[in-house]
Amino acid sequence: MSSCIKWENKFSVGISAIDEEHKMMVALINEACDSAELMDADDATAELLQNMKAYAERHFATEEAFMQQYEYAAMATHVQKHNLFRERVAAAMNRDKHDVDPYNVFQFLRDWFHGHVLGDDKALGLYLKQNGAR
Ligand SMILES: [Fe+2]
Ligand SMILES: [Fe+2]
Repeated sequence: MSSCIKWENKFSVGISAIDEEHKMMVALINEACDSAELMDADDATAELLQNMKAYAERHFATEEAFMQQYEYAAMATHVQKHNLFRERVAAAMNRDKHDVDPYNVFQFLRDWFHGHVLGDDKALGLYLKQNGAR
């Protein structure tokens, strides 16, 4: 099984509950990457989108609960980004599975993970740490 993105320390936001969930997301993205090369990639990708949607909901709930508890001023903007992800995944799930390119799904997930975690989630982690979360 190839590993298309690797967990690196630079992804750590310093809050262990969030980091653990991000590691699980890396594993799911790697499944997307692997399934892009399979014969039955359409079905594998549809199933993965389903799993990713479920896991992302759980993860966004974790982050959004932290934001609320610690009165994070940038919460609205951050939640908007989560909503955009929810919309993109839902749109891919609503399309006929034969029209969804597995490699595009992988690329989207990978780019989203890099951009969102290294930007928005890092900023959130820093704020939470400064305010006593761990
Ligand atoms: Fe996150
Ligand atoms: Fe986030």
